[in-house]
Amino acid sequence: MDLLTILTFIALVLIILKIYNKLTVGWDRSYTCLIGKTAVVTGANTGIGFYTALDFAKRGARVILACRNKEKAENARKIIIKITGNPNVVVKNYDAASFASVRAFAKDFNETEGRLDILVNNAGIGADRMRKKSEDGYNFVMQVNYYSSFLLTHLLIDKLKASAPSRVVNVSSVMHRIADLDPDNLDRYPKERSFPTYINYANSKLGNIVFTIELARRLDGTGVTTNALHPGAILTDIFNGMRGWQAILFKFFATLYFKTPLEGAQTSIYLAVSPEVQNISGQYFSDCAERSLSREITQHNFVKKIWEKTEEIVHLTPQEKLN
Ligand SMILES: NC(=O)c1ccc[n+]([C@@H]2O[C@H](COP(=O)([O-])OP(=O)(O)OC[C@H]3O[C@@H](n4cnc5c(N)ncnc54)[C@H](OP(=O)(O)O)[C@@H]3O)[C@@H](O)[C@H]2O)c1
Repeated sequence: MDLLTILTFIALVLIILKIYNKLTVGWDRSYTCLIGKTAVVTGANTGIGFYTALDFAKRGARVILACRNKEKAENARKIIIKITGNPNVVVKNYDAASFASVRAFAKDFNETEGRLDILVNNAGIGADRMRKKSEDGYNFVMQVNYYSSFLLTHLLIDKLKASAPSRVVNVSSVMHRIADLDPDNLDRYPKERSFPTYINYANSKLGNIVFTIELARRLDGTGVTTNALHPGAILTDIFNGMRGWQAILFKFFATLYFKTPLEGAQTSIYLAVSPEVQNISGQYFSDCAERSLSREITQHNFVKKIWEKTEEIVHLTPQEKLN
């Protein structure tokens, strides 16, 4: 084979891969109207969360952008209002790295908002920023990506129940499949050398799924449903912390092959609004289709232990616990 044939072959494979990527994106095709409904999206100022909030605003919802950076959030709010013409978009301070902030957000929401139809637990950080603890003394990535969604959902559950049928959507990741989550050492110290950063991220994303499974069980019959999802490999700011030559190589391939944030938002939107999933709860989706979960992570003892350990970590009062 001469060089030209090899290069043509490589180019063909890359083009086929690109076409495959585009053809396999799942799109939410529902016409659900959200006028009169209220939605909260955490981490809505950019990436997947931004396009999720934008979609809800297009459908006429009152949308709360729950964000930690006021300036970025205000900017996102202005863009959403400009695109959709829906002025009912509000910014509220929410820092998932602080339980005090999560509690303050929920208190303000419960006191000032009449209803809650959709909660999308989307805020998250990547693997690279893990080697420190939060102000509450916990594994930073676990707190931002998992513990705070757990706490926030508990604190807003009465509004969700009162607005039923309502939905909780938890943005997880396919990375959960390589997690190594020990219920007896849930908040594993992030500085252990034998504990790679990507496993820590994977653990936080498995936390989202385990939470979804048990939450669905505990909410059975209330009219509140919950599902988890993998958005796909999406080119967003979440990879900005990467450094060195790996980052350059990664950015090159990601620019070519990763999906856009709009494509990444589709499964979150689908789970929040589509009539197709109105009676489905406790499941895991990607590309707007249900996917199977491994038997080990759905075992009741495993799920129950993690749930109870998380209740302790976020300091739920007896009244706040879900039975
Ligand atoms: N991109 C992917 O390929 C991919 C794959 C699987 C799963 N996911 C999941 O998708 C979700 C959205 O990520 P993305 O890719 O859209 O990333 P992104 O563009 O970086 O967006 C993440 C959002 O979370 C917010 N956030 C981070 N830390 C926060 C904190 N302490 N308190 C409140 N908000 C915080 C960010 O706010 P700032 O702008 O202020 O940082 C931002 O709005 C995450 O849960 C992520 O794990 C992404």
